Amino acid sequence: MAAGKRTILITGATRGLGRAMTEEFIRLGHIVLGCGRSEKEIAQLQKQFPAPNDFAVVDVSSDEQVAAWAKRVLPPHGEPDLLLNNAALINHNAKLWEIGADEFSRVMDVNIKGVANVIRHFVPAMVARGAGVIVNFSSGWGRTTDAEVAPYCATKWAMEGLTQALAQELPPGMTAVPLNPGIIDTDMLRSCFVGGASNFPAADEWAKIAVPFLLKINSADNGKQLSVPVG
Ligand SMILES: NC(=O)c1ccc[n+]([C@@H]2O[C@H](COP(=O)([O-])OP(=O)(O)OC[C@H]3O[C@@H](n4cnc5c(N)ncnc54)[C@H](OP(=O)(O)O)[C@@H]3O)[C@@H](O)[C@H]2O)c1
Repeated sequence: MAAGKRTILITGATRGLGRAMTEEFIRLGHIVLGCGRSEKEIAQLQKQFPAPNDFAVVDVSSDEQVAAWAKRVLPPHGEPDLLLNNAALINHNAKLWEIGADEFSRVMDVNIKGVANVIRHFVPAMVARGAGVIVNFSSGWGRTTDAEVAPYCATKWAMEGLTQALAQELPPGMTAVPLNPGIIDTDMLRSCFVGGASNFPAADEWAKIAVPFLLKINSADNGKQLSVPVG
């Protein structure tokens, strides 16, 4: 591998921040291993960014699908240098008692269990190598709260705790951080900031700041609550 060229694993690469990061990392010469649920978007990404980049249809809430993904991509690509647990869902805006059990479970399954599934199947190889950075996407709503997004807030507060505990478990030299990306105009923001999302930066503008910031995270940051330095 050429000096400085890194292998970046991104969950939720098909839209929003994951898509914008994918494009920016590849533009800078790095290799991206990405996933998402949408078959059409994954096929389009693979066509636009051929091998050695690798895109897979994976639902991170399925431990079996994540296990199969890791089994397929780790041997040819090696351990990711940077693992970005970016994929997440938000509940539709509603009071906690108005949100059905199925929707509540789905948000937990993707936002918490999905992150644990990816860690379970990719981090052992990173630990064996004794190197690598794990970034779990949190939110401003992982450090504060608002009405009508209680399930989402619960998962993002969970990211903060899960990641700080993980940071205490990793061997010296490795890094895990929860990251607040800022507020960015994506499908997710349009769902919860109805009408107000367009006041915020587009994902591709955000990625120009976020990607260099992500590439600088190192073991001195282990366990720190980081935020992308946007506006
Ligand atoms: N946008 C913001 O202002 C903001 C603020 C704070 C935090 N965040 C966090 O930043 C991250 C990205 O958010 P975003 O705004 O880019 O969201 P988004 O536009 O809704 O995109 C979410 C991405 O996750 C993927 N995804 C969802 N469920 C998945 C699953 N079960 N398995 C695999 N992939 C899945 C989606 O792809 P498919 O539909 O193809 O699966 C999509 O690529 C999230 O963790 C979010 O909580 C965003």
